[in-house]
Amino acid sequence: MSTNPRTPQDRRVLQVGPLKPSLAQTLQDDYAAYVLPDEPAEFLKAHGHEITAVVTSGSTGVDAELMAALPNLGAVVNFGVGYDTTDVDAAAARGVLLSNTPDVLTDCVADTAVGLVIDVMRQFSAADRYVRAGRWPVEGNYPLTRQVSNKRAGIIGLGRIGSAIAKRLSAFGCEISYHNRHVVEGSQYTYVGTPTDLARAVDVLIVAAAGGAGTQGLVSREVIEALGPEGYLVNIARGSVVDEAAMIEALAGGRLAGAGLDVFADEPNVPEALLTMNNVVVLPHVASGTVETRAAMEELTLRNLDRFLKSGTLVTPVPMPSRACAGR
Ligand code: 8YV
Repeated sequence: MSTNPRTPQDRRVLQVGPLKPSLAQTLQDDYAAYVLPDEPAEFLKAHGHEITAVVTSGSTGVDAELMAALPNLGAVVNFGVGYDTTDVDAAAARGVLLSNTPDVLTDCVADTAVGLVIDVMRQFSAADRYVRAGRWPVEGNYPLTRQVSNKRAGIIGLGRIGSAIAKRLSAFGCEISYHNRHVVEGSQYTYVGTPTDLARAVDVLIVAAAGGAGTQGLVSREVIEALGPEGYLVNIARGSVVDEAAMIEALAGGRLAGAGLDVFADEPNVPEALLTMNNVVVLPHVASGTVETRAAMEELTLRNLDRFLKSGTLVTPVPMPSRACAGR
């Protein structure tokens, strides 16, 4: 980035991908933002050079090709804590800053992780379906499920969200161990050097690592097999972190007890096989999806945009280059 325009009249904002409607409206009303069309070639040729800031979300992001078509881009402002859809290396190479929305969504995402642990182990969603299908009076009591309290929980990625999950499960009497790119200094939880060893040592493995190339398939076939027929997998991170095909095979073959999933490899498409498994809970990527948290994410997104346009800095910048293996 050599010629980032600095005068207000030159600063143009581009919305890339769908956003929360109120956020998109504010971008229109207060920033006269462009919206990237589905067929962007002509738009980019005509207006690409005007753009200094992009507002996007974790589900869309900005790839290297789009960045190259925005020669004066100074910042990508990401709605969401995960930014794996934005090419961080390309951004770093171009001097493009990147912000995300950490902290404000930690509680809701951690709540969802614990909700999935309880749901998949106690089978509440499946038991709810049992009642609704009229099976209780006909078939009798629902089969027994597994206790959550006092179990061994393993967390992959002990960042903000992983730590919030650990805190919650500690209150359930769970013994917490974790795997992370680095040992977390001062943590009271037990560090385990590999995901496979962690999986072998726990009853439920919870994935809270950042997505992206650094964690692609981190929860591999070997990890899933190590979790074993009595083990449960919960993923609130990114579908890419888990070998989804291996997970489905293990579930189908009884080599994994169950899975609680908020994220998938190819959202919004969920593999058909998962939909027929009663020991699987599937959520449509709703971990941060509360009125309160999404409002806080929106507010932080706009503060980042505003600060960038006014001063060229960000409120919550992502460290560059990517720290993709750390927890979110
Ligand atoms: C959002 C998320 O749903 O913050 C994240 O990384 O995955 C979720 O909070 C998503 O970013 C919105 O696209």
